[in-house]
Amino acid sequence: MNISHIEHIGIAVKSIENSLPYYENVLGLKCYNIEEVTDQKVKTAFFKVGQTKIELLEPTAEDSTIAKFIEKKGEGVHHIAFAVSDVVESLADVESKGVQLIDKAPRGGAEGLQIAFLHPKSTGSVLTELCQ
Ligand code: CO
Repeated sequence: MNISHIEHIGIAVKSIENSLPYYENVLGLKCYNIEEVTDQKVKTAFFKVGQTKIELLEPTAEDSTIAKFIEKKGEGVHHIAFAVSDVVESLADVESKGVQLIDKAPRGGAEGLQIAFLHPKSTGSVLTELCQ
């Protein structure tokens, strides 16, 4: 496993539109991309903070995992994503160390990234994403 940096921090929000003023007007960040990821039933908005991004996640359906997260825990930090050089290799590596995987193989995420999630049961309850 070779992590180069934190690629992004995912934050669950009920509404990107209602959340934008805080990020743009208070923190002074600029939203440079809003994108829907259909198979994850979310709309995403991105801000750059150095080489790390903030990814706002708004559910687009009631059965979206983000909708369920907000229902249970409210809005807030949802996951942390590490940039790795090779997701397939990293998954095999962590699995060999006993980590439970949500994704056995990478899938397509926002911004054309290959992503895979590790199960919070194995990561101290921090939903962890690897992306490349
Ligand atoms: Co993410």
